[in-house]
Amino acid sequence: MRAQPRGRLIAVEGIDGSGKSTQAARLASRLGAVLTFEPGATALGGALRPVLLERHRSPITVRAEALLMAADRAQHVDEVIGPALDRGTWVVTDRYSASTLAYQGYGRGLDRAGLDLLVEWATDGVVPDATVLIDLPVDVAVSRRGGEPDRMEAGGYAFARRVAEGYRRLADGASEPWITIDGSGTADQVEGCIWERVSRLFGSEALRGTGAGNGIPRSTPSPPLPS
Ligand code: TYD
Repeated sequence: MRAQPRGRLIAVEGIDGSGKSTQAARLASRLGAVLTFEPGATALGGALRPVLLERHRSPITVRAEALLMAADRAQHVDEVIGPALDRGTWVVTDRYSASTLAYQGYGRGLDRAGLDLLVEWATDGVVPDATVLIDLPVDVAVSRRGGEPDRMEAGGYAFARRVAEGYRRLADGASEPWITIDGSGTADQVEGCIWERVSRLFGSEALRGTGAGNGIPRSTPSPPLPS
């Protein structure tokens, strides 16, 4: 019997308000992939998420913030992402390691070399097969955000600009494929652009992933998405 081919991991990234959660869900549905997210997709992550995102809690230093994101990711890889990939299932994650490099690195100013080690250790070397970056001007993204800003969003424009610029640099310097998409169109337009690029990158593999092919159940239970 042939060994089950390993699944593919696609990360969807962008600044808050970029529309990446919508697009991650649509891409997962097109691929018949497991849809998951960071931070918060596991029981441990669910406990960490409010600590990381709710305002008016006890202060978190920048290094502690990076470590908590890494703890969430380690659990996520061990419990959700790794087992799915081992089963041959494709996984779309709404945020992954690049969020740490963009937010804690470019945004908060932590040293890149240290973060690279942290990310490598937390992921146990599980690298995305592709990262989709939804890029749009910071003022447009901020105007699309609803409700009260969370602890990360409270960093304001200057912080968001550093994160956005960090993402562009990561995309330019990456060794694995990054797909940068202009996020300023309608959700349908952005979805179409992402699908065109993803299906071009993975070819028939991505198309096999559509529907019930490739052993990927369309109805794989996914953890609840953040609001
Ligand atoms: P997200 O769930 O995308 O926010 P929302 O529910 O508003 O769509 O992400 C939560 C926040 O966590 C976001 O501001 C980015 C931040 N974050 C980091 O700073 N580092 C990380 O490694 C991750 C995964 C997220």
